[in-house]
Parts: sequence; C-alpha cells; structure tokens
Amino acid sequence: MSQRTQVGIVGCGPAGLFLSHLLHRAGIESVILENRSREAVESTIRAGVLEHWVTDLMRGMGLGGRMDREAHIHSGITLQYGPNRFHLDVTELTGGKQVTVYAQHEVLRDLIAGRVADGGAIHFEVTDTAFHDVETEAPRIAFRDKDGTPDELLCDYVVAADGFHGPGRKAIPEGTRQEYNKTYPFGWLGILARAPISWHELIYARHEDGFALLSTRSPEIQRMYIQCDPADDIANWPDARIWAELHKRLEIAGNWHLSEGDIFQKGIIPLRSFVCETMRHGRLFLAGDAAHIVPPTGAKGLNLAVADVLVLSRALEDAIRHHRTERLDAYPATALRRIWKAERFSWMMTTMLHVDETESPFEHRIRMADLDFLSGSRNAQAAVAENYVGLPFDA
Ligand code: PHB
Repeated sequence: MSQRTQVGIVGCGPAGLFLSHLLHRAGIESVILENRSREAVESTIRAGVLEHWVTDLMRGMGLGGRMDREAHIHSGITLQYGPNRFHLDVTELTGGKQVTVYAQHEVLRDLIAGRVADGGAIHFEVTDTAFHDVETEAPRIAFRDKDGTPDELLCDYVVAADGFHGPGRKAIPEGTRQEYNKTYPFGWLGILARAPISWHELIYARHEDGFALLSTRSPEIQRMYIQCDPADDIANWPDARIWAELHKRLEIAGNWHLSEGDIFQKGIIPLRSFVCETMRHGRLFLAGDAAHIVPPTGAKGLNLAVADVLVLSRALEDAIRHHRTERLDAYPATALRRIWKAERFSWMMTTMLHVDETESPFEHRIRMADLDFLSGSRNAQAAVAENYVGLPFDA
C-alpha cells in the first residue's frame, strides 16, 4: 500500500504540528506520522513559556481561543542569587512584549484538535519509520501503521520533526553533518503539585546548594524544579525532601513563603546543549529537537522548533507553489543563525544560575559577577529580556 502527499512529516510535536498547520494555510498538503499515541503526545510534560510571536501565530491560525482563556501572561521574571532578589521587567525593557505561560502539551492538544477539524491526516502509533530516496525528487517514508501493516508515504519533500532520538538526523550521512554537544554535570528534578500560586511571576534562583525554578501551570497546579545530580534516582527524593530544598532555595526574601501541596508528578531530566549542522540532505529537512537541544533554563525548546518551521514553511511554499528554491537552499543557514543565538542564551542562563562543582573558583566568581552585573545594569537586563520574549526574526 502507499499514499501520496506533498510534504511527509515525521513527528507530532511542536515542529511537526505547526508545520502542517502553516502548510495547510498555504494550500499545501501534508501527512504527519507519529510513533506515540495521541494520549501520550497530549500528556507529555514539558516546559511552558511561549514567546510573544508564538502566541500571535496561534491566534492568527485561529487556535488561540483556549490559550487566551486559560494561559497566564507574564510581564517579568524574578531572579535570585545569594541573599539578593531582583525583578526583571521584561515588558518595560522590550517596549511592551510579554511571555505567555501555557504548557507545551496544551499547545499540542489545541494544534492536534485543529488539524483533525481541518481534515488533516495524523497517523499515531506508527512503527519502523524510515526515510528513503531523500537524495532524489521522489523521497518516501516507509512505516508500519498501528495494526502493523507496512505502508509508505510518497512525497515531494520530507521533514524530520522526530525529536533527538528519531531516525531523521541519522538519515543525513555522517560525513556531511557536524554535531556540537555539551552535557552539563547536573540535571533538573521537576514536580507538578496541586498548590496555589506562590508568586506572581517565575522565580529563577541560584542558591549555594543549587538552582531552583518556580513556575506555574494554572491557579491550582504549580510546576517547580530543583537542580540535582542527573544520575540520581527519583526514589531518593521523597516529597518532604523536595519541599525542604524548594523552601531553602527559593525563600531567601524573609517576607515570602512558598505554598506546598500534593506532588502528583515528579521526574529527573538531564541537561544538554546540542546542534546538528546541516539541517538538510537532498529533500529531507530537520526541524526542532531532531536538529538541536537546549537546556530548559530559558524555556526555548518549543519556541525554537516553531521558529524553524516558520522559516521552513515559507521556503516549502516558494518551492512547491512557485518553483523557487532559493529559500529552501538557505533554510539551514537561516534557521541556524537563530538556533545558535538561542543556544547561547540557554547556555548563558544555565551556567549563570547553576552550581557547577567542575568549575574553577575563578569561573564561580565570574558567574556571581554576571548576576551582580545583571541585577544593576539596565542594558544587561534589556539583553536578557530581548532573548526571553523571543528575538526578532531578522536579528
Ligand atoms: C516550566 O514551566 O516548565 C518552565 C518555565 C520556565 C523555564 C523552564 C520550564 O525556563
């Protein structure tokens, strides 16, 4: 059996879903293949901060209704180090821009519902996905459908939006790609708790015992993280120990108290930075985590995936509808300029805010000077704010 479509997309995460919506609006057909179930995609916990242009894009696609009702708009962030706490007024520093706190899986739910309502094809629970003939004008994706039946998608172009572990990147011959990797010697222990909101904005804290982040999901559900050993076992972290660390690391201002609640989800994630150059081989294009990973400290992962496919969708539109391939040829270079800036920002926020035992005393002092400078310099704050709300597309 085989099916035909103009753009075959592997991966039903932010990159794949935004791409299929953008292509649909440009009159281009696509099919998404995903190895997980719809329920698994719609419940996987990830970060939750949307850059201002991502929310505009969702509204422009007619998919912003639930977000506008349920999400939290934030106009600043709180930063802490040692005994110091300061406010970074993101909106004032960026001439009116805001960020939206809305969980990634909620975005995915809205986008999947939108694609289904448009009659778009998403095949969940496929297996054995493999890219073929990507160096020709007739690339194809072989897969087995949910029942195990072999199938094939015949395409004009194929996009690997299949995450860090997907087959897409490996379909680019090793000799033609260069990978840049940085693994951090720490991880994040993340929790979801049924508790009231403790503070009106996110708190990023550097404590001598490690980083902590206070975030939110809704008035009833809060998201918090603490720096930990990436190899640690979650069994070593009973709830009481987690709360004790959160209180200690976050409550440096004497007049403020963190509200506790029932922890109903917890897990440990490693932190890494990764970039694959190039992002194209023949008619195969990489987008999102397939090509790059950022540590979560700046909440750039989803935003960067959407930025990739915004560029890619316009390039595919030029190629498919107008037979002009200049933008497609330029896609890796165009996307990578933004990617490296997001990598830089995420690395900078990560190194500045975490305690790294492998660092020298000199480097440690530099991190503290970074925070001291940031707390007192409007220019330094403006640079962080500009990155936090999302860089302009021509920067
Ligand atoms: C989250 O709410 O999960 C979150 C927020 C900000 C970050 C990372 C994660 O920088």
